Amino acid sequence: MKGLILSGGIASRLWPITYNRAKQLLPLANKPILFYGIESLAKAGIKDIGIIVGQTRDEIMKAVGDGSRWGVKISYIHQQSPDGLAHAVKVARPFLGDADFLMFLGDNMIRDDLKDFIDQFYRDRLNALIVLDKVKNPQQFGVAVIQDDRIVKLLEKPKEFVSDMAIVGLYIFDKNVHSSIDRIKPSKRNELEITDAIQDMIEMGFEVGYGRLKKWWKDTGTPLDMLEANRRLLDEIEGSIEGTTDENTDMKGKVVIGKESRTVNCKIRGPVVIGENCFIKDAELGPYTVVGRGSRIENCKIEDSIIMENCKLINIEKRICNSLIGEDVEISCQGSGSDRYSLVLGSKNRIKSM
Ligand code: DAU
Repeated sequence: MKGLILSGGIASRLWPITYNRAKQLLPLANKPILFYGIESLAKAGIKDIGIIVGQTRDEIMKAVGDGSRWGVKISYIHQQSPDGLAHAVKVARPFLGDADFLMFLGDNMIRDDLKDFIDQFYRDRLNALIVLDKVKNPQQFGVAVIQDDRIVKLLEKPKEFVSDMAIVGLYIFDKNVHSSIDRIKPSKRNELEITDAIQDMIEMGFEVGYGRLKKWWKDTGTPLDMLEANRRLLDEIEGSIEGTTDENTDMKGKVVIGKESRTVNCKIRGPVVIGENCFIKDAELGPYTVVGRGSRIENCKIEDSIIMENCKLINIEKRICNSLIGEDVEISCQGSGSDRYSLVLGSKNRIKSM
């Protein structure tokens, strides 16, 4: 079985964080989302993986490389424009040939063992397998209507309620999906939808089954989704201190401190991950906080936030909560006497007082 990971597309809901960064490379617990996906495929024994890339392809190729670090072979497939998930499969046809393949959406965090779904696909002799999970906001997903344990209808982001069973970003297909993709037409949003292709497979009489998740998953499409996925991943970490902490640093819970990082007079409440080469002084961190490598934080309180690489946060009076701060960001205050701001912000930046 081959693997196809979709990492093209434009992530407008994560602007400005994704102006200069592929959304699939945004870090969760200090590791790019996409790496978790590649690890899952490798663990399930999939060694031949194609990655769909779009305008952020150089960055993705640089970060991922040839796959040897996961023991897999990666091929890159360029999709000129993000014309839909089924379009991505069409573009990948030369790579896929007639092989069965597992398709994985590169912005999804899926904690289940993929091998279980591969086993189900072969055991039930399916032509397509989708994975479903009950959600509270079905209008934001593709959904499946199930009757008598069979999928009868698939709809992409329905405005009216038809089902709360969302389609998770993991699919397994045999070669018959390609003729269905050739038959479908672009949707209202002008994309070739994989849900329409699967609906076509059902109507053509192919065996389309579904699996259910046992663990958690998250589509990391928005800042709040990112923070939630980050929290859930941090709940699973083991603490490890490779850097140094002074005797005035008070730590509780699971904490990771990377090499060459130093904390001075800090209060740290895990789960917290501090990357390599950070300097943290007179700060309160956590719970659920990640600091990217090379960052300097002084006299700040930070909770439930992702701070990316090489940030400088100095003397911020209010507690920073539920925040996503991109790389190389600098926020510094003179101290409590000042009543003025000096801001250099690009478009779509958001600063809110809560
Ligand atoms: O997360 C699950 C949902 O993913 C499903 O419930 C929906 O049925 C499915 O359509 C998809 O919806 P999204 O709106 O979340 O898809 P998004 O545009 O975020 O794309 C998912 C991934 O695929 C992302 O890594 C970008 C990539 N992609 C997307 C498009 C449209 C491509 O590589 N090429 C594309 O043309």
